[in-house]
Amino acid sequence: MKILIIGNGGREHALVWKISKSPLVKKVYCAPGNAGTSDVAENVNIESTDIKGLVEFAVNNSINLTVVGPELPLTLGIVNEFEKRGLKIFGPSKEAAEIEGSKVFAKYMMKKYKIPTAKYESFNSQKDAKDYILSFQPSAFSFQPVVIKADGLAAGKGVIICNTIEEAVNAVDLIMVEKVFGSAGMKIIIEEYLKGEEASFMVFSDGEEIVPLASAQDHKQIYDGDKGPNTGGMGAYSPAPVITDSISKEIIDTIIRPLISGMKEERKTYKGILYAGLMIVNSKPFVLEFNCRFGDPETQPILMRMKNDIVPIMMSVVDGKLKGKEIQWGNEPSVCVVMAANGYPDKYEKGKEIGGLDEAKNIENLRVFHAGTSKIKDKVVTNGGRVIGVTSLGANFEDAIDRAYKGVSLIKWDGVYYRRDIGRKAIPISRKSLDI
Ligand code: AMP
Ligand code: GLY
Repeated sequence: MKILIIGNGGREHALVWKISKSPLVKKVYCAPGNAGTSDVAENVNIESTDIKGLVEFAVNNSINLTVVGPELPLTLGIVNEFEKRGLKIFGPSKEAAEIEGSKVFAKYMMKKYKIPTAKYESFNSQKDAKDYILSFQPSAFSFQPVVIKADGLAAGKGVIICNTIEEAVNAVDLIMVEKVFGSAGMKIIIEEYLKGEEASFMVFSDGEEIVPLASAQDHKQIYDGDKGPNTGGMGAYSPAPVITDSISKEIIDTIIRPLISGMKEERKTYKGILYAGLMIVNSKPFVLEFNCRFGDPETQPILMRMKNDIVPIMMSVVDGKLKGKEIQWGNEPSVCVVMAANGYPDKYEKGKEIGGLDEAKNIENLRVFHAGTSKIKDKVVTNGGRVIGVTSLGANFEDAIDRAYKGVSLIKWDGVYYRRDIGRKAIPISRKSLDI
């Protein structure tokens, strides 16, 4: 088979790596890819939003399966265009991708199909939104934090947590008047703040059947101890101990199955990966968001633990034959530490030469997934905010963390930044005093 993977992040490098190990696969392309994908796949210089260009490439090169990484081409309808031409493609249609593309639609689905989520109101006028906020108890002592979300795609950043009425009013101005998240701010959601432990839960779905992936936990904030602004994700680990077997069953029964059958009922049959971003509050799962694609960086540690060939599973999703399929997971936990450019998630510099990649690659049970990198002659340079995801397997979480950070310590560039506490939450409290 010839497979085309669309995107240029760490998630796509991990997919290229996993897919290229399949005995069914003869050739892998990645559009546009990064310096890491070019070691395994042939990079194709077409942007992930150039749907016409990608369709033409798939036709001209007899691609047997295309796998879409990022949300933007999915919400723009890449799957619809490929299917019109009879091309096999892994991912949801434009209509189904709305589950990520519009938070208002996602909330509508959750309300209609009784899926547990934070209580909310949606607004398309800033005056109504502010009147709603000002109707809250004006005493500073009784104000419960609220979360204000821009409706459309904002690269994981369109969410503001507000601890006072003033912050909430300012957030409405920022999103709806100053349009800091662009057109995503035409509509907003104001929702109740949920306090608990976050986790990510993904499933393969062929529209009817589902097969869950291993659980994972992301580290959204930029600084250690979950401080500072949200990013696309500064590291992840799998499994997430907070998702016990019984919580996993509850997630499937009360969240995943109702959503998949609801999407079918709405004539938006959902095929591909469904990602639920969850808050576990007193052992009960609530949905914070749905994504229409693999998580980044969660996919990196999850794929490290996946024992079987991913290609037959992807094909059965596309062909509607997922029933009876299973995935085997290794028992060893995995940890991915994201190395970013100094300044991310705001302004950062590009073009810094990266050293130590080959030394890190020599560590056993460790993979160096590239994200924002490119090659200039034979040098690898930084080309994005999140640059590298060093991903390890270990006998236990301590071992996996130790190994990942050993890799991190070898990789260097001018202005590198990473969190130093990735994975620590997964270690039972009794063992944390070991101070790893
Ligand atoms: P979202 O894009 O909706 O997942 O929101 C991004 C991040 O904001 C989440 O990963 C959480 O850390 C935080 N967040 C979103 N909604 C809530 C909520 N209702 N309560 C607490 N934190 C939230
Ligand atoms: N890591 C969060 C996401 O992929 O949306």
